Amino acid sequence: MPGIILWYGDPPLPGTIYKLDMRGFELSENPDVANINIQLLNPLLSSASIVVFNHSGEVDDSNIHYDTYKQLPLFINHGLLILILSDRGRWSTLKEDLKRLHPNFTWDEEIRFLTDLKGINFDNIVSYQRVQPWKNIKIEKLDLSEELKQDEKLLVCRAFQKAEELHIRELKSGFTPSRVFLAYEKMRVSSIAHWTQPRLVKIGESNNLANEIKAMKEVSPFVPFELRPNLEVYIEGFSKSVYVADFVEKSESMLEAARAGRAEAAISNLFNRTLQLWRDRAWQCTPPSIESLALAAKRLEIIYPDIIENEYLESVLIEDAAIDVNTLWATLVDISFEHRAATIHGDLHGDNIRVRGDDAILIDLGAVKGTDEYGKGAPICFDVAMLEVALVFTCTDDENRKDQFNQPEWENAIRRFYDLNAILNPPKPNPKPKQDDYFWLFGCLRRVRAFGIYEQSDKHEYAIALVIAMWRLCKFPSLSKTDRGRRVIALDIGAKLISQIEAERRKST
Ligand SMILES: Nc1ncnc2c1ncn2[C@@H]1O[C@H](COP(=O)(O)OP(=O)(O)O)[C@@H](O)[C@H]1O
Ligand SMILES: [Mg+2]
Repeated sequence: MPGIILWYGDPPLPGTIYKLDMRGFELSENPDVANINIQLLNPLLSSASIVVFNHSGEVDDSNIHYDTYKQLPLFINHGLLILILSDRGRWSTLKEDLKRLHPNFTWDEEIRFLTDLKGINFDNIVSYQRVQPWKNIKIEKLDLSEELKQDEKLLVCRAFQKAEELHIRELKSGFTPSRVFLAYEKMRVSSIAHWTQPRLVKIGESNNLANEIKAMKEVSPFVPFELRPNLEVYIEGFSKSVYVADFVEKSESMLEAARAGRAEAAISNLFNRTLQLWRDRAWQCTPPSIESLALAAKRLEIIYPDIIENEYLESVLIEDAAIDVNTLWATLVDISFEHRAATIHGDLHGDNIRVRGDDAILIDLGAVKGTDEYGKGAPICFDVAMLEVALVFTCTDDENRKDQFNQPEWENAIRRFYDLNAILNPPKPNPKPKQDDYFWLFGCLRRVRAFGIYEQSDKHEYAIALVIAMWRLCKFPSLSKTDRGRRVIALDIGAKLISQIEAERRKST
């Protein structure tokens, strides 16, 4: 069933009406949608497939469509194809008008501008496969999380075409504004309804989700099927979009696994299996990059001094030591050597990797950076260093709750790993294993650094990547006093490492 065409402006030419009719389209001329809220059961919108704004009529139409154009988000959330018919000469003015009305939307991709509905234009329209009409499904929350907004609910209904009922439980999202749910779907298959495997539902800002989906598709040939997020459905809405993917069952976050001392095999497998082919692309890029790691970090918006938050710069430790991040950064900018660069995950931390047994499963590809084009790559050492720094510096919920700036035990446990010597040489075994809260550090760092050091093309590559990963922590606001205390230490350690690296390089030239 081709569905209804909502047609605004002067009516179509009789020939067009006839041809549309022959193909089973039904016309609804100038229906009033100005007052429709995003209702789930709006019969007109759920059976429509195309919206046409016809500007090629005789009358001056500049104001006619205004109220309807305001409802574009509604049309887009319903998955309707939007066509604007006008003289080519008017397209840019119309685009400007639309931009004023909805500043954040990328019109060129979602809306087709045509001069008329003749010939090939007509053929393209009638062959348009409209999205499945969505149905209102019963969504039951299994927790006390906030209700879904109407537009979110609509997109979720569109994503679960075959569902009769959906039970959702909210998961704690990372630092992004997205909402993430575990969902159980009761399918409407013939007369028997059955519950399917749990699914992961992510609702996020459209542009962010579009990047994440793009990354998922690009990465899929390089990461084994069972070790990556597998996309099932992606619904693009106006300001938000939704995707449904496999939920990684019987798994824990890498941070949890690390703290419990059972992440070591998974860390090795992360680089040896999960990411191996993906990272290997960097070795196929010739020539290797010669840009300094610091410049690459700036180009990729990972970190540079201007974006370090004052709450860290103005701490007693940093002020008393008279640390000048700009001067130190300039030193890093001057250190360049050939290194491997391609695509990186960009946000490798304990909560973006699930651990199941010895497997490391990637889940969040929302921050992928770099390409394998020369000059556009991301240094592959960044991923390794970011994971190490995340494991060492991230606070658990309990630690955040303590809200305690000074953490002498933690500091004492970690500092010894961040002298330049300790980075260049394998960490020494823990003299008293399993006796304190940080017994796990040694084993994890040994595994991470095995990659960091083994892959480096300059003696100081991994150490510089660590500085970049530590300073990167300071571009985010702190979550608690505990967290602030740790990020200040990261800034301080980074500064000391830069001085040590510079001194060593000066000595050897
Ligand atoms: N496929 C999945 N399987 C299991 N848990 C998941 C999955 N995807 C996300 N999660 C959980 O939801 C959290 C947030 O999801 P994520 O995609 O990382 O969102 P954000 O972009 O907000 O960081 C994750 O840290 C993880 O705990
Ligand atoms: Mg995440």
